[in-house]
Amino acid sequence: MTSHVRSFKGVTPKVANNVYIDKSSVIVGDVELGEDVSIWPLVAARGDVNFIRIGDRTNIQDGTVLHVTRKGEHNLDGFPLLIGKDVTVGHKCMLHGCTLGDRILVGMGAIIMDGVVVEDDVFIGAGALIPPNKVLESGYLYVGNPAKQARPLKESEKAFLKQSALNYVVLKNEYLQE
Ligand SMILES: CC(C)(COP(=O)(O)OP(=O)(O)OC[C@H]1O[C@@H](n2cnc3c(N)ncnc32)[C@H](O)[C@@H]1OP(=O)(O)O)[C@@H](O)C(=O)NCCC(=O)NCCS
Repeated sequence: MTSHVRSFKGVTPKVANNVYIDKSSVIVGDVELGEDVSIWPLVAARGDVNFIRIGDRTNIQDGTVLHVTRKGEHNLDGFPLLIGKDVTVGHKCMLHGCTLGDRILVGMGAIIMDGVVVEDDVFIGAGALIPPNKVLESGYLYVGNPAKQARPLKESEKAFLKQSALNYVVLKNEYLQE
């Protein structure tokens, strides 16, 4: 375990095979990364007061912050952060205590707050703000602050959700060979 991937209260991040973690990122505590995940420069993933799970082939791009909310008297589970498979999280996003399904693109600079559920196959525009506890319906584009459903996704966009994740798997393999 390197210094930027480190334990907290005896819990060490679990990293599956073929994962790329840039050395400038910080991964702390109860964090699990699935196969072929990529973590790009300056990402912070802090699994201290709850846990973070990231599914296979998901990429978390530069400057993104991942954090969670602790359990409490009025919120027994708190808000862990769950990110599914084949998800692209663009540059400089904030994902806090939310649940994302599979094949999602989170546009650059988006903010997703506690208790939000993003269903499979959703495109979130750059700069969107998703307020607490909203549910984003599968198959739609959401944009704005606060984000609104803009339109159904085109078939080409649905295909791109998966392709974007695969592009990042190829790119991180090139980085692993450097
Ligand atoms: C939303 C997005 C998908 C474009 O969708 P689109 O339907 O093709 O939108 P258009 O470019 O035709 O623009 C339609 C309208 O939405 C507005 N718009 C475009 N992107 C927007 C965004 N992110 N937030 C708010 N409004 C946006 C346009 O200004 C335009 O408004 P107008 O009709 O008043 O002129 C794209 O702008 C976007 O945000 N992509 C995310 C890219 C990204 O962050 N990728 C990750 C990088 S690794």
